[in-house]
Amino acid sequence: MSKRSIAIFASGRGSNAQKIIQHFKDHEKIAVSLIVSNRKEAGIFEVAKENKIPSVYIPKSKFVEERYVIDVLNSYQIEFIALAGFLLLVPPFLIRHFKHKILNIHPALLPKYGGKGMYGHHVHEAVSNAHEDVSGMSIHLVNEEFDKGQILFQAKCILEEGDAAPDIAQKVLALEHRYYPLILDQYIQGFE
Ligand code: GAR
Repeated sequence: MSKRSIAIFASGRGSNAQKIIQHFKDHEKIAVSLIVSNRKEAGIFEVAKENKIPSVYIPKSKFVEERYVIDVLNSYQIEFIALAGFLLLVPPFLIRHFKHKILNIHPALLPKYGGKGMYGHHVHEAVSNAHEDVSGMSIHLVNEEFDKGQILFQAKCILEEGDAAPDIAQKVLALEHRYYPLILDQYIQGFE
């Protein structure tokens, strides 16, 4: 039986991608088969290279071309997409084509601190400025709006008085690394 293939979409350094790749390395049923990024200089390409996973750069202007994007994904038999620090809005044609098969990770407890412009350090700064005593991460299905799809899993971390954005980022990232690969695995294996 052939494995089910995941593409990871990322725009940045790719530490979550690295954890996902590690998790599925010798997996019996699932493989990471492609890395996609909209940023040519993103660290994720280094991660792809180190792990010998094919990667493709698709600039924002190309992401609107349905035939092109679908053909790229089909050529690697992609069935699921994991967004890991991917900062473009996923185009509706992809959401239709991969119905309930695109997952995202967000570095806060949605529905708080989500939406357009809420990514990376912006999220942690907002949490810090609001003097929250908890933060965490959310894994959710992707729909047409930023961070609005069905939440599949959340994990919390306790914040100390005086935790600044980088401290919060560190706590949240540890949760992301721990849970994203596991939740992806569980979700994909449970998918008919
Ligand atoms: C992660 O913390 C992820 O939750 C966040 O970007 C970071 C990517 O880090 N995503 C968003 O903010 C999406 N709105 P990484 O490149 O090291 O995996």
